[in-house]
Amino acid sequence: MTFLLPTAIMRFWTACPAFSTIYFLLIIFVISTIFHCHQRLALVPAPWAHPAHVVLAPKHLPREGVWTINSKGRLGNQMGQYATLYALAKMNGRSAFIPAQMHSMLAPIFKITLPVLHSTMASRIQWQDYYLLDWMEEQYRHIPGEYVRLMGYPCSWTFYHHLRDEILQEFTLHDHVRREAQWFLQQLQARRTRRATFVGVHVRRGDYVRVMPRVWKGVLADRSYLQRALDWFRARYHTTIFVVTSDDMAWCRQNINSSLGDVVFAGNGLQGSPAKDFALLTQCNHTIITIGTFGIWAAYLTGGNTIYLANFTLPNSPFHAVFKPKAAFLPEWVGIAADLG
Ligand SMILES: *[C@@H]1O[C@H](CO)[C@@H](O)[C@H](O)[C@H]1NC(C)=O
Ligand SMILES: *[C@@H]1O[C@H](CO)[C@@H](O)[C@H](O)[C@H]1NC(C)=O
Ligand SMILES: *[C@@H]1O[C@H](CO)[C@@H](O)[C@H](O)[C@H]1NC(C)=O
Repeated sequence: MTFLLPTAIMRFWTACPAFSTIYFLLIIFVISTIFHCHQRLALVPAPWAHPAHVVLAPKHLPREGVWTINSKGRLGNQMGQYATLYALAKMNGRSAFIPAQMHSMLAPIFKITLPVLHSTMASRIQWQDYYLLDWMEEQYRHIPGEYVRLMGYPCSWTFYHHLRDEILQEFTLHDHVRREAQWFLQQLQARRTRRATFVGVHVRRGDYVRVMPRVWKGVLADRSYLQRALDWFRARYHTTIFVVTSDDMAWCRQNINSSLGDVVFAGNGLQGSPAKDFALLTQCNHTIITIGTFGIWAAYLTGGNTIYLANFTLPNSPFHAVFKPKAAFLPEWVGIAADLG
């Protein structure tokens, strides 16, 4: 006995590393399984916060094929891509699926309904890429192919204006996003006795400060444009409140004359989290835009009077090859010519 006990203890101690190895391997296995699953789900972030119909396996794909579109650029671009896919797929009798990346950009802000194509699934499909101009063309009514991936940066009402109500429905703000913007505007209203008319002002600068003159031979909205645009509304409505959002608020504070007390520098200008600024603009009654698709979309959804910067590039600008003012701005919007001098 006296001999056996140490042996038993010895056995126990020698067995111990084996047990810990098993536990160790088990832990590795669990962690790698979690990691693997996480990777597969990573491109559809927070599917619980923003539920969507996600297509994972081929058996879920519709027989008539799958149409999708590239997911490129920031909010305004992706809204243009979403709406264009929505309209062209419908026109051609196909089913539209959005890339997971587009879903993660748009779903936190809007109640979009198009199903999501999981990236693993998307990478298994042999896509037929179809390049779009930035405006509608007759041939887009008859695009051949079952697995078509639309390509480009389309941003034009000419693709989807006939479906305006559906597009507005797709880009309906989530309640909490809308409520936050409404709360902000109500605070402003509370300080006035008369019912206010809210005008959202979007001043886009950022990278355009360099790109516009160098690449596109054009200008950005200047002080005088903004003054004229604000005065346009002041002349037509009483108790106007201008809600300014911008990616360069310091410039706005210096260049927008706020001495009449009707200008509010709002929004956070964060390009990484555009929901707040976008919601503020669309909850206003009218819109003043400068340049870029973010403003164009805000004005389109707001639906009131819109003032836009017109003729902001020189006649020999390469911008004319990719941008048709008539296809970008609705006919009823009011243009104020830029000062190219
Ligand atoms: C700002 O506007 C007020 C009122 O219209 C005007 O009196 C003032 O001269 C303007 N200031 C500048 C710097 O333009
Ligand atoms: C203007 O916008 C505010 C804030 O969204 C809203 O409460 C008000 O009803 C709108 N006014 C009109 C005339 O639509
Ligand atoms: C922009 O230029 C075109 C062509 O020269 C002209 O017809 C149009 O009236 C201009 N727009 C504005 C708002 O000045």
